[in-house]
Amino acid sequence: MDLASNPLAPAGTDPAAAWRHPMPVAADRDAAYLSLRNVRKVYQTRSGDVEAVGMANLDIAAGEFVSILGPSGCGKSTLLSMVGGLESVTEGEIWIEGARVTGPRRDFGYIFQDPTLLPWKSVLDNVLFPIRTQKRPVADYEGEAHRLLERVGLGEFKAKRPRELSGGMRQRVALCRGLINDPRLMLMDEPFSALDAISRDDMNLALVRLWDSYHKTALFVTHSIREAVFLADRVLVMTARPSRIVADLRLPFARPRDVTVQDSPEFNRICAWLRDQIQAGYGRAAQPAGG
Ligand SMILES: Nc1ncnc2c1ncn2[C@@H]1O[C@H](COP(=O)(O)OP(=O)(O)OP(=O)(O)O)[C@@H](O)[C@H]1O
Ligand SMILES: [Mg+2]
Repeated sequence: MDLASNPLAPAGTDPAAAWRHPMPVAADRDAAYLSLRNVRKVYQTRSGDVEAVGMANLDIAAGEFVSILGPSGCGKSTLLSMVGGLESVTEGEIWIEGARVTGPRRDFGYIFQDPTLLPWKSVLDNVLFPIRTQKRPVADYEGEAHRLLERVGLGEFKAKRPRELSGGMRQRVALCRGLINDPRLMLMDEPFSALDAISRDDMNLALVRLWDSYHKTALFVTHSIREAVFLADRVLVMTARPSRIVADLRLPFARPRDVTVQDSPEFNRICAWLRDQIQAGYGRAAQPAGG
């Protein structure tokens, strides 16, 4: 990591200062909420081994919202799947709250690119679906389902079926479904990439508003640099395969966060710097998608 090029270091100050996290990678993993130690992933395929994640080391504090940027195919989804226990690690260890990740957990929320709602169920029942499958008392969660739907602007759509909603509205339902069991960790893999620009801005705002009050730990994969910066407390950049984390930037923007932050010179300087990091990760052979 080239600390001297840190975009947040004011002239005449220690250029490494803004990189320092409360819990650096070398910290005791018990102090972090989520820790990756020397995590590597190799897929064995018929045409040979594919080293998706070269080596990942990372500590994330409880309540941090961390965006992950990187070239297509660099292993972002693989990393998220390993954290969620949906995919095994080839080498290394992943620890969450002092326990090693060995499989999927109920107390995580997942949101993927495709909202995959059940077409025959109402919006409200889709949000409550994880509660039903986990055989928890649905009545205990109905109030929260109503509150979540109202918070994302779907208060009047609770009885509708998914086909009666726009793509952005469906993704909001998926967001509420991901949050209904009060997950400790939210894993989001390009949840808004299929949306048009206006709906995507709306979703970004809805998510930022939710995070003003929810304070969940989150990993958010995206190809959009502006989205990554607007939403997160911290942005990671991964290189092309076999990937490594080459930048880890703590953002200086306060919460509650307003859309106007995107107009600030600092926001734009950070986005430009991240774009350079991603292009360097591509070997400058290609432009990053979106942004
Ligand atoms: N189940 C699998 N079996 C074999 N190879 C896989 C599997 N899943 C992913 N890969 C390979 O691992 C590499 C990383 O894939 P991954 O989906 O994690 O990338 P990504 O960074 O999420 O890409 P994108 O930005 O396009 O979503 C790719 O080369 C991909 O072909
Ligand atoms: Mg992916």
